[in-house]
Amino acid sequence: IAKQRTAMIRVHKEISAWYHQLLMKHPMADAARQYLKNRGITAEVAKSWQLGYAPPNTQPLREWAMKNKFGSGLLIEAGILATSEERGDAYPRFRHRLMFPIRNDNGEVIAFSGRVLEADAKAAKYLNSPETLLFNKSKVLFGFDKSKRAISKAGQAIVCEGQIDTLMVFEAGFQNVVAGQGTAFTEFHARALKRQADEVVLCYDSDNAGYKAAERAFQALAPFGLIVKVAMLPKGEDPDSYIRKQGVEAFGALIKEAKDFVDYQWISVGSRRDLTEMRERIKFAEEMAENVKLFDTPMAKETTIQRVARSLGISEEVMRKLVARAEKSTG
Ligand code: CTP
Ligand code: MN
Ligand code: MN
Ligand code: MN
Ligand code: MN
Repeated sequence: IAKQRTAMIRVHKEISAWYHQLLMKHPMADAARQYLKNRGITAEVAKSWQLGYAPPNTQPLREWAMKNKFGSGLLIEAGILATSEERGDAYPRFRHRLMFPIRNDNGEVIAFSGRVLEADAKAAKYLNSPETLLFNKSKVLFGFDKSKRAISKAGQAIVCEGQIDTLMVFEAGFQNVVAGQGTAFTEFHARALKRQADEVVLCYDSDNAGYKAAERAFQALAPFGLIVKVAMLPKGEDPDSYIRKQGVEAFGALIKEAKDFVDYQWISVGSRRDLTEMRERIKFAEEMAENVKLFDTPMAKETTIQRVARSLGISEEVMRKLVARAEKSTG
């Protein structure tokens, strides 16, 4: 296994360097360079994150593998080559995509995420490496190798949805930023952040998927005693689009004014449901009771109960009862 791991690390390292060289220099990557330009990603940033380009066809990868003496068995295991019944031969998983290397805490490349360059309804916007000996997506935080020190120094982590958001936020000067790869935020992610910080600012897309993801992230983070805040972007924006439109300072203000999770939920739910309706208020109180029970400290529980009670105009006593009931129902 140790030997296998070494080989896997080496193939990821080498191919990441190759994808990167192609992106920076090869005529084949003209469209990819144009794409970066359109999105405001400079060559310097592309270099710093070792962004790459995966060729559109099989031949370049075949030649590269031959030259570097990487067998197809290893490339299949690394998820670089994919196999399918129909195609028979193994073929490159990533074709004509902008490549984002995904690194572990030590900065070793362990997987890739590849973005399509042209709007193409048939292709997935992002294609990720499969789970391998190296890559377990529920454990990796994108950007963490770069941002760990800043997170620890600030005592705060900014969490966003994706790779582009992470690198744009980082390059805007907020280096305490990571992403959870678009998948659900897990207890592994929470534990990793808890080791460096006591506060997390969720900076998810302001769309329905983002609202749901923020709630799930809260539920993963709260049991670890992390304070969870939410940066509220205007509807339809994500950190990248917001910074591009409104600038770094405006983004900084959003982070600074991030709302406590309860207040965020009050505003966010209130914009979707009519909280003047009794039945909606009861539902909100019950939903918040489910969230409050996840808090790890009595202090967090108590202050949250007070806030929810105040928002709803009910007594803290009633809210405490709801929390007690929620605690009983799942032990
Ligand atoms: N994602 C994914 N597979 C998809 C779509 C999204 O893995 N088919 C992940 C990616 O990590 C992506 C994140 O979810 O970065 C957030 O998705 P989305 O908001 O749709 O993409 P953006 O990060 O905004 O990407 P872009 O700005 O390039 O459109
Ligand atoms: Mn997401
Ligand atoms: Mn999104
Ligand atoms: Mn987005
Ligand atoms: Mn985006």
